[in-house]
Amino acid sequence: MKKILFIGLVSILFFSCQSSTEVSSPDGTLILRFVQTEDGGIGYRVSRDNNEIIAFSPLGFLTENQSLGNGFCMVGTKKKNYTSVWETVWGEERFIEDRHNELLVSLRHESGIRMDVVFRVFDDGFAFRYVFPEQDRRELTVTDELTAYRFTQTAEAWSIPWRTEYYEGLWQKRVINHSQISNVNSQISNDTLCSPITIEFADGTYGFVHEAALTDYPAQNLYVREGALRTYLTPWLREPIKNEELKIKNEVKAYVELPFESPWRFVVLTRTLPELVASCIMLNLNEPCKIEDPSWIKPTKFMGIWWGMHIKTMTWEQGPKHGATTANMERYMRFAKEHGIGAVLAEGWNKGWEDWKHFDFTTPYDDWDMDYLSRLSDSLGVQIVGHNETGGNAADYEADLDSIYRYHAAHGIHVIKTGYVAPIIRTADGLQWNKGQSGVRHYRKVIETAAKYHIAIDNHEPVMPTGLQRTYPNLMTQEGVRGQEWNAWSADGGSPCEHVTVLPYTRILAGPVDYTPGVFHFENPGNALDPTGTKGSADRGITPRVHSTLMNQLGLFVCFYSPLQMACDLPEHYMEHPDAFRFIEHVPCDWEQSILVDGKIGDFCVFARQERGTENWYIGGITDEETREVTIPLSFLNHQSPMNNHQYKATLYRDAEDADWETRPYAYNIEEREVTADDTIRVRMAPGGGFAMELKINQ
Ligand code: NOJ
Repeated sequence: MKKILFIGLVSILFFSCQSSTEVSSPDGTLILRFVQTEDGGIGYRVSRDNNEIIAFSPLGFLTENQSLGNGFCMVGTKKKNYTSVWETVWGEERFIEDRHNELLVSLRHESGIRMDVVFRVFDDGFAFRYVFPEQDRRELTVTDELTAYRFTQTAEAWSIPWRTEYYEGLWQKRVINHSQISNVNSQISNDTLCSPITIEFADGTYGFVHEAALTDYPAQNLYVREGALRTYLTPWLREPIKNEELKIKNEVKAYVELPFESPWRFVVLTRTLPELVASCIMLNLNEPCKIEDPSWIKPTKFMGIWWGMHIKTMTWEQGPKHGATTANMERYMRFAKEHGIGAVLAEGWNKGWEDWKHFDFTTPYDDWDMDYLSRLSDSLGVQIVGHNETGGNAADYEADLDSIYRYHAAHGIHVIKTGYVAPIIRTADGLQWNKGQSGVRHYRKVIETAAKYHIAIDNHEPVMPTGLQRTYPNLMTQEGVRGQEWNAWSADGGSPCEHVTVLPYTRILAGPVDYTPGVFHFENPGNALDPTGTKGSADRGITPRVHSTLMNQLGLFVCFYSPLQMACDLPEHYMEHPDAFRFIEHVPCDWEQSILVDGKIGDFCVFARQERGTENWYIGGITDEETREVTIPLSFLNHQSPMNNHQYKATLYRDAEDADWETRPYAYNIEEREVTADDTIRVRMAPGGGFAMELKINQ
């Protein structure tokens, strides 16, 4: 009798559950429908203009002792329309519009757990996050996240494998078909990918899949199984770990304390590439700025005692070729002052580089006079960018953060480049992936502590950015890219020309990048192939070098966004081409607005950006190994004030007719002319080439 009553009650509960509800984008074109299956499973579908883009895709979790993938009842919904415009502290855009419709679905699981899914639909994509409200249950151990994206059409995804060390890989196009991810060019066995991925759909539209506001949860990775793109959360590791043998003893992914909000999962869906690049969904999903007065956070260009170590003319450790000496730093700082560069980085100023194990972040080498350089920095108005390489020992670094940052701030240092060179870092929880939950917590602690001391961070070997710079604008830039340094020493000879034409559409959509553009001298004897084949690319007989023309290096300053933008080469190399260096002196790194004028993933890009607070514009273009002529209508110059057809003085830095990255990388011309918004510019980019253009308003 008791049993019969119980079943009756349960079925009434399920019967009273709604099974679907929907929300559309503000312009009505995108519709997201939340759907429940018969067993209380949860999922969603998305359509655009009545065509299904994403078929039913599951949501939910697996936890240590139960599945939160089914057994749910929808107990309520709430809808909200939202429009606002907010101003960035720095960025590619000064003002960002956040316009979306929100649907909150409240669910009760048969175990009693309450969970909400919050959906937001924008005109250019959608997002959702899981929210566990305050309830009796205090914690959950997540073993898997069931989130999936079942795209209805075949797509090609630009991506890197999930275990790419430090994300420093060459992005490749992999077909997402209905059963697996496969590499277009060659078969790879490791078919799980890092987030983000950029998608080219068969119908010519675009997608970008990533996460936002990652603060206390493992980074997501993505793989395809049974026709859907699925989530693989970076797992916790269990010691002991011997060499490369990783012990993932039990697949715990996240320890979640309730109440809890997961990072957002989002998909940008656009018809064109410029719209994809312009999407602000990721920033809009992050919390507003938590730093009460961020006025101390200033974008700046910087140079550094850095490239010398990578081309082996200097060393980090003390010795005859020590780079970070007082005299050398003074030389760099005076050069920076003369050329209007705001700051100078010094790597190898502190003790510990001999074994990379015992870095001391408050004790300089004997040939570095911190007090003197700090006074010099004050008097010249050129900042010192500090450097804290941890060698992957995040635990020790974290334990001393306050004293380290107090020391730097006391010496007037308000920007620090951090580093974690170790594929698996040591956190307060032992050896862990840097993009696991423990690593994510560490990086957040660094940013929050640095903010207390008015210190901005340039984070190398980071977890992939997720837009946290909106909340903590002192997180100014990050690496997480196969950057310029690979062109100094990589055994494969350096990155192919194509590499830089992929990044603006992939890695850089996740946030500012410290790629370090600006190499002006391509000979690289320090890493030259020697007769024993122990340096350089022995198999191909190639000395590593930058695969670009000098003009391509200038174009990068506009195409690659970073509010801390490094001009990476040596002062003496810049003085080999002072007329071209003028562009680096002038180009800003903080923008009023940015436009992708033209481009194709893996082929080329042309960006135009308006300097923040002025009417001046900068245009940059880069191409792969193909020569390319681009046509740029300057109509964007007056699109904000069409009545004001200003005259601009345009200075164009372009590849010479015979320029070629391999044979004549230094061949360029600099031309001046007067232009207005009615003009169109045609520029030819050489193989591996590019261009840069400054448009200054005639007063
Ligand atoms: C790797 C970083 O990417 C590079 O910029 C730095 O010079 C070295 N680590 C040393 O910290």
